[in-house]
Amino acid sequence: MTTNALRPRHIAVIMDGNGRWAEQRRLPRIEGHRAGVESIREVLRAAHELEIPYITLYAFSNENWHRPKEEVNFLMRLLSDYLDKEFEELHKNNIRFQAIGRTDMLPEEIQKKIEKNIKATEHNTALTLTVALSYSGRLELVDAVKKISEKVARGQLRTSEITEAVVSEHLYTQGLPDPDLLIRTSGEMRISNFLLWQMSYTEIYVTDVLWPDFRKQHFFEAVEAYQKRERRFGRTHLTR
Ligand code: FPP
Repeated sequence: MTTNALRPRHIAVIMDGNGRWAEQRRLPRIEGHRAGVESIREVLRAAHELEIPYITLYAFSNENWHRPKEEVNFLMRLLSDYLDKEFEELHKNNIRFQAIGRTDMLPEEIQKKIEKNIKATEHNTALTLTVALSYSGRLELVDAVKKISEKVARGQLRTSEITEAVVSEHLYTQGLPDPDLLIRTSGEMRISNFLLWQMSYTEIYVTDVLWPDFRKQHFFEAVEAYQKRERRFGRTHLTR
């Protein structure tokens, strides 16, 4: 791979297929989620090798609260363990941890661990890992509209001053560049309410590989596919 050609700065990932991976092995679905943690490590190692500065993972959507209670509880435990155990590794690798979404819906103990991880890694510079938790792209826009209208009501902002940049600044992802590439595993061709505003011009790469089977080599393949694309941002190749 020519690592300098069109290297994506920000890669978002929809980690899908954990349930199917487990079912194929006649294991409970939760085993797929457990195995999926190793794929997260692989992605971080691959991003580190390619010097990609922003990775955003869709770990738990707002809709996922409607899954069976046991599965939700297991995912919360997995997340709690991840925040405890991976912390040293993240910090050692100079990774800054962030979370986006309605994190106030998460168990209090997890909220505290998230805060601790964010605070402890805030000055790290190699890579920003953003984990979407209790996340919904539409609710993110609703929350941004509320914040902006409160400012207008208080006289801190005029309606005529609301621009795309102002909307971006009121999203959970404030300060992050928009994703250049979205990787979705396990073959589904959907965005699933992820980063709706931010993905206006994101290149989408879908692989049939199930998330627990996703390894560095698959990540490199996705980046290579991205590098072969021509991004036009609504223009023609003649006007770029
Ligand atoms: C989608 O697979 C995956 C999830 C809803 C959870 C993703 C979570 C992890 C990979 C591990 C936990 C994360 C952290 C940060 C510790 P699915 O269950 O929808 O699979 P299916 O479509 O095959 O049923």
